[in-house]
Amino acid sequence: MVQNGSTLTENSRIELNTEAVPRRLGLLTSGGDAPGMNAAIRAVVRTAYLRNIDVIGIRRGYNGLIHGDVFKMGPNDVNGIITKGGTILYTARSPEFETKQGIERAADTCNFHGLDALVVIGGDGSFRGAMELTNTLAEMGSSLSVVGIPGSIDNDIACTNYTIGFDTAANTCISAIDKLQDTMQSHERCSVVEVMGHKTGHLAVYVGIAVGASVILAPEKPLDFERDVLENLRNAKILGREHSIVIVAEGVGRTQELAEQIHKSLGLDTRVTILGHIQRGGSPSARDRVMASRMGEHAVELLCAGRRNRLVVTHDGAIIDIDIAEGSAMTKSLQPEMYRTARVLSLSAPTR
Ligand code: F6P
Repeated sequence: MVQNGSTLTENSRIELNTEAVPRRLGLLTSGGDAPGMNAAIRAVVRTAYLRNIDVIGIRRGYNGLIHGDVFKMGPNDVNGIITKGGTILYTARSPEFETKQGIERAADTCNFHGLDALVVIGGDGSFRGAMELTNTLAEMGSSLSVVGIPGSIDNDIACTNYTIGFDTAANTCISAIDKLQDTMQSHERCSVVEVMGHKTGHLAVYVGIAVGASVILAPEKPLDFERDVLENLRNAKILGREHSIVIVAEGVGRTQELAEQIHKSLGLDTRVTILGHIQRGGSPSARDRVMASRMGEHAVELLCAGRRNRLVVTHDGAIIDIDIAEGSAMTKSLQPEMYRTARVLSLSAPTR
């Protein structure tokens, strides 16, 4: 995790550098959408407006840069969007941007529209793409200052405690699983619920604690079926639980099979629910709106201070920033204290 150090800047310490204030700032969302991205868009557009910076909205992530799908944005374009999930800029995963020609075409669009700054709201892959774009532009003799804002329901970006969208997605999971608990309790069943998280279990562990799951499976932890699943479900039964919730992070990869194994081993009546893309939608929670707003403002202030190629992150409640290459190179493991709580409360031995 990021420690306080020379690579980090707190918002209060950002000083305006009038020479460095960008003239035209490109803004895009990339990768999977996340509730709160619109709040970040709004914050970037409004802060830029106050600094007299033109904002060019880029539709569909890097695809929009490749194909020149851009439009000028003003404060009127962001009225009322703070309450809305998704992203008004649309988003995409862009295989074309992974090719040399794709990046060069995107760089041409930046030059054509006179962009001297770019704010990218997305995940790790989107930030790596932004760095490649700056490098390509540098080879062409142009300069682009990039700032990234972490947006993902997975909370899987190592250099930040939090990614925009995580809280809303977790609450969506919780409200769906609370409903499942009613019917599972009535039928004395075992509910096996798959939640998103890409290759990580941050969402699964967080949601698992919040719904009181008997079993929480994350891809970061090698699975011992007898120890991690059967033992917990037996304990739950002994302690009088009529129904059980098993949370499986999608990265574990075999939810249906696990449910069948539980049925065969313990005779429990199991039902599988894959929450799927419902987790990515919905009006953002207060936490996501506020976090996104603060990060969006910070991103523009960084650019106005002449600080380029930074990632806006949060650590211990403060909005700070880190070098984009340094931040993107970090890897994140499950928070040990969260995982411990999850195991203790699901009646597993905490030390495993
Ligand atoms: O990164 C967000 C996420 O929702 C992951 O949790 C999931 O693995 C992936 O995106 C799904 O991507 P797509 O919407 O392209 O199917």
